[in-house]
Amino acid sequence: MVKVSKHPLVKHKVALLRDAKTEPMLFRNLVGELGQLLFVEATADLETTAVTVRTPLADCPSEVIWQRVGIIPILRAGLSMAEAMLHILPKSVVWHLGLFRDHETHQPITYYNKLPPQPNIDVGYIVDPMLATGGSASAAVSILKNWGLKDIRFIGLIAAPEGVTVLQNDHPDVRIHLAAMDSHLNENAYIVPGLGDAGDRQFGTF
Ligand code: PRP
Ligand code: URA
Repeated sequence: MVKVSKHPLVKHKVALLRDAKTEPMLFRNLVGELGQLLFVEATADLETTAVTVRTPLADCPSEVIWQRVGIIPILRAGLSMAEAMLHILPKSVVWHLGLFRDHETHQPITYYNKLPPQPNIDVGYIVDPMLATGGSASAAVSILKNWGLKDIRFIGLIAAPEGVTVLQNDHPDVRIHLAAMDSHLNENAYIVPGLGDAGDRQFGTF
């Protein structure tokens, strides 16, 4: 399942994000805000359990999420998304995965993984602004599956059709939530029109 958000706020913020004139501080804020908006959409099916909350006036039947939610940012670019998403659901657990694309081969290289022996979450959201060739996202899903996690979703901001196809073929069970689907990849495997390098634009490392 691929869901591209139709929300006007998402479209508006994606336009600001793409703009080459957008400076790193605003860029980071936009990545976070878009992460939050997509997190709301991507968590719509989480399960709740009944509780009673005591308001200043009376007991109130209420519902709280019972599933243990994990946010898994792919370093570096997923960091701003994860931090902002934690504000929406502070009890989430964050497991960082370090992956970077080799500049020549465009294949993902894993350099950081401190997952404990057993999963301590029920649902995992991999977050990364860019789904280009799909190699990094697919590798991240494989890492989580090998860990033993069953319910895995991906939240990205901008995707190329090539990357979506790879992720869907490799992991048809993983739902993909996006802010925008772009045209194609260029000869350097960058998304066109895209936004350039999401890590560099967040952290000023041009
Ligand atoms: C970018 C991006 C994804 C990956 C997407 O990270 O944040 O992780 O590329 O490309 P793919 O779909 O072709 O794998 P990058 O490798 O530039 O690392 P960085 O975040 O540390 O800059
Ligand atoms: N990584 C990025 O940051 N941007 C792209 O367009 C592709 C991969």
